[in-house]
Amino acid sequence: MELINLLCLLTITGVIICKDKGFIRVVARVGEDVVLPCSLGPKNIGPALFDWTKDQQNVFLYDGGVHYNNGLHGQDPQFKGRVSHFPDKLKNGDASIIIRNIQLSDSGSYSCYFPLLNHQRFYIELFVGASAKLRIMILQITEDRALLQCEVHEAFPGLQISWIDSNGTILPATEKLEDSDDLHYPPALMLQTNVTKTGIFRCRVTQQELNHTTEAQISIPIFSDKTVAGSIGVLVTVVISTVVIIGLIAVVILYWWYRRRQSGNREEPSSRLRSSEHPDQEQDNKMAAHMQRRGSDVQKTTNQKKDT
Ligand SMILES: *[C@@H]1O[C@H](CO)[C@@H](O)[C@H](O)[C@H]1NC(C)=O
Ligand SMILES: *[C@@H]1O[C@H](CO)[C@@H](O)[C@H](O)[C@H]1NC(C)=O
Ligand SMILES: *[C@@H]1O[C@H](CO)[C@@H](O)[C@H](O)[C@H]1NC(C)=O
Repeated sequence: MELINLLCLLTITGVIICKDKGFIRVVARVGEDVVLPCSLGPKNIGPALFDWTKDQQNVFLYDGGVHYNNGLHGQDPQFKGRVSHFPDKLKNGDASIIIRNIQLSDSGSYSCYFPLLNHQRFYIELFVGASAKLRIMILQITEDRALLQCEVHEAFPGLQISWIDSNGTILPATEKLEDSDDLHYPPALMLQTNVTKTGIFRCRVTQQELNHTTEAQISIPIFSDKTVAGSIGVLVTVVISTVVIIGLIAVVILYWWYRRRQSGNREEPSSRLRSSEHPDQEQDNKMAAHMQRRGSDVQKTTNQKKDT
């Protein structure tokens, strides 16, 4: 048991589930590099012989410093150039290997065997999955709803798929399967949902066995949605207030201009009034003089009458 726990800690990538039946389970995703752990404990195995096989395939053979990467022949073509060991760790009894660019075909049962050291053998189960590839499409869009589709490709193994709105609520949706003749991957899965509100919608795929979640999202405007109408309302309000403010400024300017014109008009008659004060007085004086003259004339006539 202690040995198995120690082996679990040696892993660099992949998810390891240690089981108590003497084998180790490693989970990896297509394209990853994965370490298959194997250790004899504190013992220098530099001069030793160990052999990694998968079913009937030769994966990696090490014999006292010579191996498939530096002279030994017989490696299965599937693993050529993809497998190496950790030379620095041999002195600690570590015979782990790393396999690069993992493929679905690498899935299977591996064994790490020490024929000259008590025939010790370790089993490692490698499980390879493929993380989902998502594609989102708008199938239909009208004024009040949009039909969204999420397409899941190459997901292996099984998955859970859902459409989620910006509030994290799972939307009602219908699943469809695509026709496919691919042997490795299940057919593409399509999940359709109708949305009637503006927002960001996410398609989420969970692959429990891979401990992996994939998400894609899309932003959808729905024109009949109140929240959009609300923002249009705000825009209209802003435009109207701008017009009102410009109108008010225009009225103030017009009023000021009018006031200026008005006060200009009032100044002219008052000056005319002032200048006409003198003619009026002159007229009065003339009138007075005239009256005086008349008076003297009258006097003269009376005097003349007296004379006659
Ligand atoms: C999210 O929840 C709020 C409040 O419950 C609601 O007004 C809004 O429409 C919801 N958004 C979506 C995209 O459903
Ligand atoms: C979306 O709405 C249309 C029209 O109401 C309906 O025909 C279609 O079946 C709906 N699709 C889904 C996936 O709900
Ligand atoms: C699953 O992934 C999460 C985060 O990626 C990690 O914290 C967790 O330990 C993983 N679970 C298993 C069983 O490996």
